[in-house]
Amino acid sequence: PLNRALAILAGVLLLSSCAGRQSVLDPAGIDALSVYDLARVMFIGAIVLWLMVGALFIYATRIRPQEMPRRTAEMVIIGGGLVFPVLLLSGLLVYSLPMMGAQRVADDGMRVHVTAEQWWWRVEYELPGDERIVSANELRLPVGARTGLVLNAKKVIHSFWVPALGGKTDMIPGRETFMSLAPERPGVYRGQCAEFCGASHALMAFETVVMAPQDFAVWLAAEAGDAVPPATPQAIRGARVFAREGCGACHAIRGTAAIGQVGPDLTHIGTRASLAAGTLGTTPEDFARWLGHAEDIKPEVAMPTYDYLSPADLAALVAYLKGLT
Ligand code: CUA
Repeated sequence: PLNRALAILAGVLLLSSCAGRQSVLDPAGIDALSVYDLARVMFIGAIVLWLMVGALFIYATRIRPQEMPRRTAEMVIIGGGLVFPVLLLSGLLVYSLPMMGAQRVADDGMRVHVTAEQWWWRVEYELPGDERIVSANELRLPVGARTGLVLNAKKVIHSFWVPALGGKTDMIPGRETFMSLAPERPGVYRGQCAEFCGASHALMAFETVVMAPQDFAVWLAAEAGDAVPPATPQAIRGARVFAREGCGACHAIRGTAAIGQVGPDLTHIGTRASLAAGTLGTTPEDFARWLGHAEDIKPEVAMPTYDYLSPADLAALVAYLKGLT
C-alpha cells in the first residue's frame, strides 16, 4: 500500500509540474484563468469528498454491525452518505454554473472565423465592411482585447481548444458556434482539435500567436496584402512547377492565378510557424518532406503526394513556397 501511495503521489507531482504552451495549468488568458480556478475548486472539493468516503469506509470495515448503536449508524448513512455530499456537490454546482456563460462573452469588435476542415483550420479575419483576410493553420490575437471566434466545421464535428487561453468549443457542420478569447500574455500557444474527427485527428493542431496590439495591427495589414512575386530564378521556376502541377486548383495564393478553395490558403505560408496544421516545422527539408510524403505523414490527407517531382523541381517549389512571406 505504501508503494502504491508513493506512486500516486509521484503521479500527482508530475501532473502538477505541467506547464508550457499547451497547458490548462499555465493560464495566459482571462478565460483560461477561470477554467483553472474552477478546476482547482473542483479538485479540492473532490479531495474532501474522497477523504470523507474513505474515512467512512475504514470505519465500516473496523466495526461489527451489532456493536454500532442504531443512532450512530443512521447518522453515518444519512449524514455522510446523503446530506454532506448533497450540500458539497450543490455548493460546487452553484459555484460553477455562472462560468458556463463566461466563454460566450461578446467580443470587442474583432472577429475571426475559424472553419475546421479534414485536418486543418481555415482562418478568416473579419474586417469592417464584411471583407475577410484568409489564412490557415495559425491564429493571431492581440493581447488585452477580447476577440470573437465564429466556429464552423465542414464535414464532421471537431472541437476548438487552446488550453492556455480558454475552454473548448465544439465545431459542428451546419451549426455556427461562438466563443471569445481574451489573452493577457504575449506568446505562442498551441491549439489542438479536441474531438475525434478521423484518421489524422491527432495531427490537427495550430499555433496561436498572441501579439502586442500595435504588432498585431502591423501584421494584419501585411497579411491582407497579396503574395510577393518570386524573386530568385529558383523561386520563379518553383512558381512554374506550382502552376504546371495544378496546385492552384486546391490552393489560393492572392495576387496569382491560384484561387483554389479546397486546401489551405498559401498566400503567406512562408511566415507561418508550422506546416500541415502543426504537424511539421518550416525548414526547407520540412517543405520537401511534406510535398514528397504527405500521405505517409498525415493519413488520409486530401493533399496528393508529389514523389515523382525531380529533385530540382522539388527544390524550386520549396524555394517558391518559402518565399511567400
Ligand atoms: Cu478535428 Cu479532431
